[in-house]
Amino acid sequence: MLSKERLESVRNGEIIGTEILFLDSTTSTNDVAMETARKREKPEGIVVIADSQTHGKGRLGRKWLSPPGVNLYFTVLLKPPFSPPEAQLATLAAAVAVATAVREFAGIKAEIKWPNDILVNGKKTGGILLEMKTGRSGINILCIGIGINVNMSMDELPEDIRSLSTSLKTESGSHIDRAEFLGCILAEMERTYKILLNDDKRALINEWIHLNCTVGNKVTVKCHDKVVTGTAEGINDYGELIVRLSSGRLETLSAGDVTILKD
Ligand code: BTN
Repeated sequence: MLSKERLESVRNGEIIGTEILFLDSTTSTNDVAMETARKREKPEGIVVIADSQTHGKGRLGRKWLSPPGVNLYFTVLLKPPFSPPEAQLATLAAAVAVATAVREFAGIKAEIKWPNDILVNGKKTGGILLEMKTGRSGINILCIGIGINVNMSMDELPEDIRSLSTSLKTESGSHIDRAEFLGCILAEMERTYKILLNDDKRALINEWIHLNCTVGNKVTVKCHDKVVTGTAEGINDYGELIVRLSSGRLETLSAGDVTILKD
């Protein structure tokens, strides 16, 4: 069971998780986090976590299924000293942290599909939603919302996404202690965020490349009403995906849905 006391006992960071706000149920932890940031003078490092969400939000206006008692839904507030176009790097840092924590804690090979899907055996088990407020001086606040299917059974998933999604318990065969696992993720986020604060973008991008399953493959990327097919060649210093089209031309994409094409 998640509780404020259990969550307090696993936090260990100097920056991330200095305060944990636990809610049994809420609309969306991203919305609560944004509201908290508005009220607080120094919101950086606050983590908002809920046992369930009634209006969990996914990327591109989708819903994020958030039943109680089984998964992790949380938002980390950060105020990095970057320009708004570099905000995506914080998402990459979060994706590296989650994939590494899954490998270390659950012992299964999690991979990152650009930009921020966490896959196990080719199926989605986690996602990251970045929302931000900017001002004249740059980023006012970043809300990094993370959802991970931890102990959810496949019967709880709608049939239409069962072939595309999974949970860590389904893939590892073992029940996972959500509070301990959160502690491991937050510690990893602290590590990857500090890499960015030390201005070592390339070190972070190299870790991301090591964990990712997109670069090097043929892909189709849907971005609004545009569809791009080619070979994913890498990501640039803003975390954008570079795709080489069959014409040889390079296309740089800042958002979209990737399908990895099998040869
Ligand atoms: C995606 O579409 O892959 C991103 C999913 C992000 C879901 C998380 S759950 C915690 C936080 N609160 C939300 O409403 N969304 C994010």
